[in-house]
Amino acid sequence: MNARQLFGGGVAVITGAGAGIGAGLARHASRLGMTTVLVDVDAAAIAALRDELRAAGASAVDKVCDVRDAEAVQALADEVYRDLGPVRLLVNNAGVEQFGYLWDTPVENWRRVVDVNINGVFHGIRAFLPHMMAGDTPAWVWNLSSIGGVAVVPLQAAYIMSKHAVLALTECLHLEVQAAGHADHVHVQAVLPGAVVSNIFESAGGVDGGDTSAAETQRAAMLDIKAGAMDPLVAAEVVFDQAAQGRFYLITQPDYVGSAMTERARVLTTHEAPRLRTERRFDPAQS
Ligand SMILES: NC(=O)c1ccc[n+]([C@@H]2O[C@H](COP(=O)([O-])OP(=O)(O)OC[C@H]3O[C@@H](n4cnc5c(N)ncnc54)[C@H](O)[C@@H]3O)[C@@H](O)[C@H]2O)c1
Repeated sequence: MNARQLFGGGVAVITGAGAGIGAGLARHASRLGMTTVLVDVDAAAIAALRDELRAAGASAVDKVCDVRDAEAVQALADEVYRDLGPVRLLVNNAGVEQFGYLWDTPVENWRRVVDVNINGVFHGIRAFLPHMMAGDTPAWVWNLSSIGGVAVVPLQAAYIMSKHAVLALTECLHLEVQAAGHADHVHVQAVLPGAVVSNIFESAGGVDGGDTSAAETQRAAMLDIKAGAMDPLVAAEVVFDQAAQGRFYLITQPDYVGSAMTERARVLTTHEAPRLRTERRFDPAQS
């Protein structure tokens, strides 16, 4: 099956659709023929994307919803099933970054990362999965982990922790759907982007005391990699194609992310302590 055969129609709900990877996934889903439900806290961004997609002849609706709010996500799921019918694709994509030493990290910034990146994914699963499993139409759930879900990076500990959590959660969910007997029509997949052009580093939290310079140097280093990062529409095409091939790990840059997976496996196998790396973390030539 190719992506157009699998995702050429039906409803796609995408959180964090107002920018970056989410907007790319929404644009590609729309091009394939899906009705897109654009979910974000940024009302203006999803209204503009809705207008763009409709102008191209597609069906799109925008829903302002904060994924940190379990009741709001439940209301969203119930509303989508009532008004638009079964969801074919749910993408739990909304996510935020955080820079700085862990001990300098403001408590509210730590909570923001946990609430959006981890709880937001859980809320999406809790609200949509029961609907998907109760029906008999094919459905896909994609959760956004990251290359950071298999790497360890100082000065981004909160974010890295959240992406490891999403990867583990998604792997467990994949097994739970099988154990509960729904794997015939509900498909769970983990998305691991490498470097994709987006607003995530600009909108990331920092620190307001302690070593602010270390936090902002790390932000600057990450902003630096943007120049060689992948276009979100290209990333979306790769992810949809891999999903259609039935892969579990959907990886925008297989060489780059794959090398982090290999390194993680090596460290765990050899029981070595993580090593502080000083070289540049992203080489677009390898992507
Ligand atoms: N860009 C990359 O290179 C990269 C790499 C690996 C993983 N990721 C992951 O991809 C996902 C998307 O990131 P991006 O880089 O496109 O970021 P982005 O900042 O460009 O877009 C994120 C979107 O999520 C929205 N959002 C934030 N908090 C929200 C909330 N509480 N409820 C609803 N929407 C909310 C924002 O308004 C924004 O529109 C994240 O989970 C991120 O961790 C990105």
